[in-house]
Amino acid sequence: MRHLIDFGDMTREEWERLYARASEIMDAPEKFVDVCHGKVSCNLFYEPSTRTNFSFQTAMMRLGGSVFGFADPSSSSVAKGESLKDTVRMVSNYADVVVMRTPWEGAAKAASLYSCVPVVNAGDGGHMHPTQTMADLTTITRLRGGVDGLCLGLCGDLKNGRTVHSLIKAMAKFRDIKFFLISPRELAVPDYIRTFLREHDMWFTEVTGLEAVIPQLDVLYMTRIQKERFVDPLEYERNKGIYVLTRRKLERAKPDMLVMHPLPRVDEIAVDVDDDPRAVYFDQARYGMFARMALLEHLALQPREDHPAPVEIGTKPVCRNPRCITQTEHYLPPLVKKIGGVDCCGFCDAAL
Ligand code: NCD
Repeated sequence: MRHLIDFGDMTREEWERLYARASEIMDAPEKFVDVCHGKVSCNLFYEPSTRTNFSFQTAMMRLGGSVFGFADPSSSSVAKGESLKDTVRMVSNYADVVVMRTPWEGAAKAASLYSCVPVVNAGDGGHMHPTQTMADLTTITRLRGGVDGLCLGLCGDLKNGRTVHSLIKAMAKFRDIKFFLISPRELAVPDYIRTFLREHDMWFTEVTGLEAVIPQLDVLYMTRIQKERFVDPLEYERNKGIYVLTRRKLERAKPDMLVMHPLPRVDEIAVDVDDDPRAVYFDQARYGMFARMALLEHLALQPREDHPAPVEIGTKPVCRNPRCITQTEHYLPPLVKKIGGVDCCGFCDAAL
């Protein structure tokens, strides 16, 4: 693995090696304080972030490396109209790894084509968030001993929630996974995710009610309604506050079910759930830092490619997804991939 753009970039064996390393780090963090000594991470955050940005920063610091970057693109040359290609090519001169979060889907993939060093996708629009998935899988493995055979309920905004899309894709690497996809109909998973589930013969059912399915779940993964991704504000108004997990609803859950959430929470988990031993969302954020330490160690120690291979120059977008990076960066090559036999955009996965 040279970049981490999509969890699918990793084999199950690669994931298991990273998890084993994250466990070693958790058990004896003092042994790792120098493994990235002299290494530098560039964190480009074009979108708000608390956990992910801080967790990548502290992960690098705890490995003995350092970090530069921005959390607000208005303070960078992006505000002068610099292309993503130029920004990435530039910062990869200074850094050993580039971590980026953007509102555009497929942007990390685009950046990886021009970077001299590994690129990590820390969230690209409503598309993917593979390092949150590393945090999620680390939490589940640490607390339940493994992932195979689990029944997961994913609840909330499954249309725009990138953490959900990444988690579903990652689960294809495990055996006998069952999904209850709990959302209002208008916030159901995108078509490419449904096609992916079918292509990988994964058991799933789509429901609108949370309470009826709670007793069957081993993991309940709550997500917030992603206000900033709604094109139609009325659609947001119709759906906000639709699911609220309360102590009373938890009474019917298994005694060892995990309540997870990528955070930030808005109102989808009542505050009194925080003291229930099944609520692990704050621990999940800490596990995420250790998982990112294992990832950064792996990527930042890779040799640079001073002259990345030439990339075909495109002229106009072939993808119609208005949030796809190809809509604004017209020089990107027309990448196409197949998902379940359907031609899809090689950047954002939307059907062409
Ligand atoms: C998530 C994100 O940014 O996608 N948060 C995170 O990275 N921990 C979830 C969210 O914003 O709802």
